[in-house]
Amino acid sequence: MTFADDAIAWYDQNARDLPWRQPTTSAWGVLVSEVMLQQTPVVRVEPAWHSWMARWPTPAALADDPPSEAIRMWGRLGYPRRAMRLHACAVAIVERHGGVVPDDLVQLLALPGVGTYTGRAVATFAYGQRHPVVDTNVRRVVCRAVQGKPDAGPATTSADLTAMAELLPPEDARAARASIAFMELGAIVCTARAPRCTICPFEEVCAWRRTGQDLPAGPSRKPQ
Ligand code: ADE
Repeated sequence: MTFADDAIAWYDQNARDLPWRQPTTSAWGVLVSEVMLQQTPVVRVEPAWHSWMARWPTPAALADDPPSEAIRMWGRLGYPRRAMRLHACAVAIVERHGGVVPDDLVQLLALPGVGTYTGRAVATFAYGQRHPVVDTNVRRVVCRAVQGKPDAGPATTSADLTAMAELLPPEDARAARASIAFMELGAIVCTARAPRCTICPFEEVCAWRRTGQDLPAGPSRKPQ
């Protein structure tokens, strides 16, 4: 078994049932979710995502309304500039791609407001392609489990993308599943402050755990 196999097996049993992960969710729905999730927790994004998708189920629907409506609808998600960017993105999708969210990573990355993470996330989660997708959660899992280092902070670099790419299975669909599985592991098991190592699928193989990094310092800790 590899890290990816273990992560996928765990994900299949334990993943949260989130609306943007349904196989029927459009690429637009995935793109909207990724922009909302960038700075807002899942529990607040979920209802906002449903409202947004009910009102603007396609990029063309959003592009037809003024940006001010997008900002109003953004409500209390915070960082409302994201609503402006999503609107500009919808307009560009209509103008450049006939209203269809492109499946090509280069075209995705050329859209306004779509950065390295978002473009890769859409190509992977909406279109099932094989791209390393690294957010702070994925980075933490790779740092700890594979590299045996403590969480190395939020910056994602080309080194992070290379490290993640090396873990992905060769087939597109499994690679995409491994990407979402690593993300979910980082979100709900390998958390920054209180990793739940005893329920982690990497418990036996985690390089960080092997060196004892997960054990809290204190009187009950056995001498090494
Ligand atoms: N599923 C897909 N992308 C996600 C994200 N950024 N956060 C939480 N769940 C996700």
